[in-house]
Amino acid sequence: MALSVETLQVSYEVVYSPTQNEKNLCAKMTASAKKLFVKTYGCQMNVYDSERMVEAMQNVGYSLTEDVNDADMILLNTCHIREKAAEKVYSELGRYKTIKQEKPDLKVAVAGCVAQAEGEEIMRRQPLVDMVVGPQSYHRLAELEKTAHEKGRAIDIEFPQDDKFSYLAERSKAKRAPSAFLTVQEGCDKFCAFCVVPYTRGAEVSRPVARILDEARALVERGVCEITLLGQNVNAYHGEGPASREYSLAGLIWELDKIDGLERIRFTTSHPNDMRQDLIEAHANCAKLMPYLHLPVQSGSDRILKRMNRSHTAQSYIELIAKIREARPDMLLSGDFIVGFPEETDADFEATLNLIKQVNYGQAYSFKYSTRPGTPAAERDQLPERIKTERLRRLQDLLSTQQRALQDSMVGRDVSVLFEKSGRFEGQLVGKSEYLHAVHVAAPSENIGKLQAVRIIQSNSNSLTGDLI
Ligand code: SAH
Ligand code: SF4
Ligand code: F3S
Repeated sequence: MALSVETLQVSYEVVYSPTQNEKNLCAKMTASAKKLFVKTYGCQMNVYDSERMVEAMQNVGYSLTEDVNDADMILLNTCHIREKAAEKVYSELGRYKTIKQEKPDLKVAVAGCVAQAEGEEIMRRQPLVDMVVGPQSYHRLAELEKTAHEKGRAIDIEFPQDDKFSYLAERSKAKRAPSAFLTVQEGCDKFCAFCVVPYTRGAEVSRPVARILDEARALVERGVCEITLLGQNVNAYHGEGPASREYSLAGLIWELDKIDGLERIRFTTSHPNDMRQDLIEAHANCAKLMPYLHLPVQSGSDRILKRMNRSHTAQSYIELIAKIREARPDMLLSGDFIVGFPEETDADFEATLNLIKQVNYGQAYSFKYSTRPGTPAAERDQLPERIKTERLRRLQDLLSTQQRALQDSMVGRDVSVLFEKSGRFEGQLVGKSEYLHAVHVAAPSENIGKLQAVRIIQSNSNSLTGDLI
């Protein structure tokens, strides 16, 4: 799954004006409520999970705070994908020592993939942690908080048989930002040799179609008009639909397409092996499905792909891209790359550069291989850091040249922009084009939450500028 930023703060934008009555009630509730501070690391699924955990804790009397010093409970939702991501958790926890000394009642919870992978160790290494909860058991967070208050430290890193979504409280009805994530599939059975996800998220599971549609409708009622369907292997989705029929991701998208008020559908992250014909056709025929596809390849060398256990080749990937572009010629492609995987030679690395040149990416995420304990590749001979650094630099130079050229080619084109929030400058709004470019436009704030036609007039380092048409 793409990691656009290592740290994402969950944000709840107020997009409606409460009445005076509501304000008074809110002030009363806020004054009495316990405060929850949340910090989210990692992928979009963690952002979604944090949102669900916040809603669960709101149901037991918590309200959100942005000031950690003000918190009665701190929740870190963590990522284990690379060593650095995992280490961040421990340094962040270290910072809470003085707060906890001054406020002994403060409860600290660690959730997410580090909790799953290193739960017991966290408890050992950090006595200030009161609760540890894995990605498949966070529906029990409120219970754990109660236990932590009544009996002391609590840990739950089970992979329960029952589906956590059935146990989570009903979703909040409050108005929210126009773009939302919705988890439809979770876990992974692919076991790429470098990756912790199958161990931290567990086996691949798809949520039933009806549940997803209910959640999507509820989001639309709250002001959402763009939904990004999430899954570690979202295009492997095979959920139970009406009449016990199995639905593919394309089938699910066509059901979502029928929801009035839902204007845009996206999905992430896909695996090349699960890119079925019906999904490619949906990209050609479903107007709500946006022309942006994140399709990680990791390497352009067949030898390395095999050692990674990716079960696709560079050529099969390139042929797939050609098919997708035939269905949707303006598709913006995004990818993930790992450099310095064990045994990667100069020739293997050149093959990756070669693949990038053939595909032409509009967006990309690239990483130095990071050894993850318990994964097969961790046992192999590792490459020196110096080589990884040099390869990453060359790869990123090439990718950013491609990205910049594609972004520059947007100048003069008309796009549709979903405005999400105010920009840095007065009178300016920021939104996303169908290709997921950030677009700055001078426009009145009533446009937040709306889709508008925009002509692109300028390409900046990381965004575009446009005018309302
Ligand atoms: N399910 C997605 C990927 C999830 S992890 C997929 O199959 O593509 C997100 C990205 O992190 C991966 O695509 C990979 O590029 C990167 N990644 C995963 N494990 C890594 C490791 N050990 N070292 C460096 N990057 C890694
Ligand atoms: Fe990790 Fe591979 Fe599964 Fe993606 S497909 S989550 S990279 S094991
Ligand atoms: Fe990280 Fe877990 Fe997501 S390891 S990338 S938070 S699935």
